[in-house]
Amino acid sequence: MTRPITFALSKGRLSELALERLRCAGVECGSPSKRTRKLFFEDEEGLCKFFLAKASDVPTYVEHGAADLGIAGKDTILEGQKSVCEVLDLDFGHCRMVVAGLPGALNREGALRVASKYPHIARDYFFNKRKRTAEIIKLHGSVELAPIVGLADVIVDIVETGATLKANGLVILDEVAELSARLIVNRVSMKTERERVADIIRRLRACPH
Ligand code: PRP
Repeated sequence: MTRPITFALSKGRLSELALERLRCAGVECGSPSKRTRKLFFEDEEGLCKFFLAKASDVPTYVEHGAADLGIAGKDTILEGQKSVCEVLDLDFGHCRMVVAGLPGALNREGALRVASKYPHIARDYFFNKRKRTAEIIKLHGSVELAPIVGLADVIVDIVETGATLKANGLVILDEVAELSARLIVNRVSMKTERERVADIIRRLRACPH
């Protein structure tokens, strides 16, 4: 009997859009009820399983083969630096990774203090791209507070509508990366499940978005 293909999906913002796209591609994974705390689901024929993980953990599940495929934001892929194959831009969940702060904050001399939920991305941007010394301060949320209360000069964070920056008097100072949801595949499954993975990629690519 063929073993089921397992998908890891991000809980939260991307999950509904990811499920919609999978259904459109004919990957029927049932409908997880919002009322339960259940995280793992499978279709009736046993062809496909999927689970909802914390967004930043999706590449980890895929890297270790607990999931064959995953749908994750490009931000978590860049930050996680996991060994997975990124095979398709799913063209939803668009947003940008930016440097933001009070106007002119990048003009200050010397080492910058940079607060971010994405320390790898922030380090790569300042050290490698800008060749600038920076102290990277890891935060877990509400990063926009950091420049206001004097924890950091700038932040590296996601901007979607721009409402949070605007409400806190911050502006975009530079763009780091364009982000969207991506399909990632475990390196072993890429070989052992080549046909099925290729078919899923084809069908997801063909879906209107
Ligand atoms: C994200 C991000 C920004 C905000 C951007 O935070 O880190 O703070 O959304 O969205 P906007 O441009 O539409 O205002 P999230 O809501 O995930 O909360 P968190 O800061 O607590 O992680």
